[in-house]
Amino acid sequence: MNCLKLCRLFSKAHKLAEPIENIKSMIFTIANDRPGQLKDALEAFAAYNVNISHIASKPAEILDFRKGYDFKVDIEVSDEAKLKRVLKHLDKLGFKTTILNSKQVPWFPRSFEDLDSLDQACMAAGAELESTHPGFNDQTYRQRRAEIAKVAMGYKLSDPKVPIVHYTDQEIETWQTAYRALDPLHKAHACDEYNTAVEEFRKHCNFREDNIPQLQEINEYLIPKTGFRLKPITGLLTQRDFLNFLAFRVFASTQYIRHHSVPFYTPEPDIIHELIGHAPLFADPDFADFSQEIGLASLGVSDEEIAKLGTCYWYSVEFGIIKKKNGERKVYGAGILSSVDEIKNAVSDKPEIRFFEPLKAAHVPFPITSLQPLYYWSNSFEEAKMEMEDYAWKVPRDVSVSYDKFDHTIKVHQDITMKK
Ligand SMILES: [Fe+2]
Repeated sequence: MNCLKLCRLFSKAHKLAEPIENIKSMIFTIANDRPGQLKDALEAFAAYNVNISHIASKPAEILDFRKGYDFKVDIEVSDEAKLKRVLKHLDKLGFKTTILNSKQVPWFPRSFEDLDSLDQACMAAGAELESTHPGFNDQTYRQRRAEIAKVAMGYKLSDPKVPIVHYTDQEIETWQTAYRALDPLHKAHACDEYNTAVEEFRKHCNFREDNIPQLQEINEYLIPKTGFRLKPITGLLTQRDFLNFLAFRVFASTQYIRHHSVPFYTPEPDIIHELIGHAPLFADPDFADFSQEIGLASLGVSDEEIAKLGTCYWYSVEFGIIKKKNGERKVYGAGILSSVDEIKNAVSDKPEIRFFEPLKAAHVPFPITSLQPLYYWSNSFEEAKMEMEDYAWKVPRDVSVSYDKFDHTIKVHQDITMKK
């Protein structure tokens, strides 16, 4: 019997995700496998209205040479008495049962409210600048960054509108300089999906060389299109938090702009990198799914796995390439699309180009302060997504989750405890 179908059969519609303390994991063993036994066992859960959120099976190890199967099920039950009744029922039917201890996993967000709390945690980081930053000694620039960060402070994903930033003439001039240099390169070397999305941004989001669009304007276009949205943040998030945001189809975006003295360079993400590099492709359904796939794979996994996923993100969302059937390279990574030098480098014969296989790419180190010596290519976003799905399936993890797009929550299907 198809276990996935069984899960659906016994699943109920939930307005909100089940509290994780109500999820228990157990194993029941079927010996002398004969038709109808699994059905009998599952009816014991149905009889007491206990929902099964996840089920998996494997051959049982020792059963006196008889054929048998262990079924691991995750159930949603808030009432201990109900659980006892199910166990008694299974016992009567002759099934051996074992309640499993919950697994401990790193804390991860399960709602928009949780994402808002993550952003609060990075507040202090936004005020700091490295001594090598071009604006380090410019007090006016630093004060302006603090002002822009203040606009994002307190914004919550449930708020109806992202607050407006009134950019100065000098900031618009920096944007314009970068925009004018990048635009012809995009027309020549960006992937078709990017150029199509930019045309739409121009029509609907005030995306122009003489105007820095507001995140609200971008969201009004993106949300109905693919469900992706930009959330203004005040400083840089940790790699784990940043990837976790993507699981909710939320991109954590800075709003400040690079120092006016270096319009073609920034040592960190800024509004040019976010809006010219990242935002347009979130309008593409395959790219949006692909980005969320990386986010979902990052929930509750170890630091080591986060680092590998971060590397996959680097080689795709930041520096990915699509190779067309005629062999022509088209760029889609935001780190390329937002840098004149990086675009020229990516389409030249200098760098090495490899096919994007996350299992291999996840282990390959990369430079962050120089042009990339290596890029990974895919035939399409759909293919990149399938590769990531395959990788995500293999990531060692103690928790199974799914995203509920109607209430923007992560549903947990296994018995876990979360450690901050
Ligand atoms: Fe980026």
